[in-house]
Amino acid sequence: MSTYKEVKKVTTHTLIEMKMRGEKISMLTAYDYSMAKIFDAAKVDVLLVGDSASNVMHGHETTLPITLDEMISHAASVIRAVDRSLVVVDLPFGSYQGNSKEALNSSIRIMKEAEAHAVKLEGGSEVVESIKRILTAGIPVMGHLGLTPQSIYKFGTYEVRAKEEEEAQKLLSDAQLLEEAGCFAIVLEKIPSKLAKQVAEMVKVPIIGIGAGPDVDGQVLVSHDMLGINKDFSPKFLRRYLNLYDEIKSAVEHYVSDVKSVDFPNQKEQY
Ligand code: KIV
Repeated sequence: MSTYKEVKKVTTHTLIEMKMRGEKISMLTAYDYSMAKIFDAAKVDVLLVGDSASNVMHGHETTLPITLDEMISHAASVIRAVDRSLVVVDLPFGSYQGNSKEALNSSIRIMKEAEAHAVKLEGGSEVVESIKRILTAGIPVMGHLGLTPQSIYKFGTYEVRAKEEEEAQKLLSDAQLLEEAGCFAIVLEKIPSKLAKQVAEMVKVPIIGIGAGPDVDGQVLVSHDMLGINKDFSPKFLRRYLNLYDEIKSAVEHYVSDVKSVDFPNQKEQY
């Protein structure tokens, strides 16, 4: 049973309270002002300026090429749109893996230049020192375990992670480490539902799943996928709520045809 409580501004503390009272957390990616304004009005609890912007906004094959400057630009436009949602920004590949000082400096840039509310980074024990250092500056950190797309060249595929016992045990111990280090929430991507449930029951911080089943504290999807802007990505976990690719294409074809036939602009659409 979950109880829904109206909140004016979602904070990291709100999310922990939501987990405590069994209210599920909604999270969606956002990369620009106009979309973020709609998502905020729709009361999405958390907007993630994900490094998936590298794929869906910049057309790269992986999340690796997007730069810190580009992430800051996306984040700043999302922040300008938001009244209620908590805005979390991904630290892009190459902006935190060097050492904890680099991780802190990149996080400070995101907080200062974009005025974001929190950062997210991928990994467990490998990045725990960086997480602690970022937290010393008072910057909230969200963790990300399971499928970590920034390590695609290490793993070689986007298949379900932690199916084998050894990897599942590493994930459990990483989740514990991230909680102890002070992460306010953890994303679990593409892992067996049973394992995700075990993690959500083991830690007190909210677990947000993507392809991790229903027994976690919240769900996140890439907005371009759930809105059907993107047609060529259809993993089993994705629910499409709209088919915007076809809708936009058809509207634009209509416009092109109206321009060609001089149906647009008509008498009322001119001065
Ligand atoms: O970048 C992103 O969109 C993400 C989500 C898949 C969680 O990290």
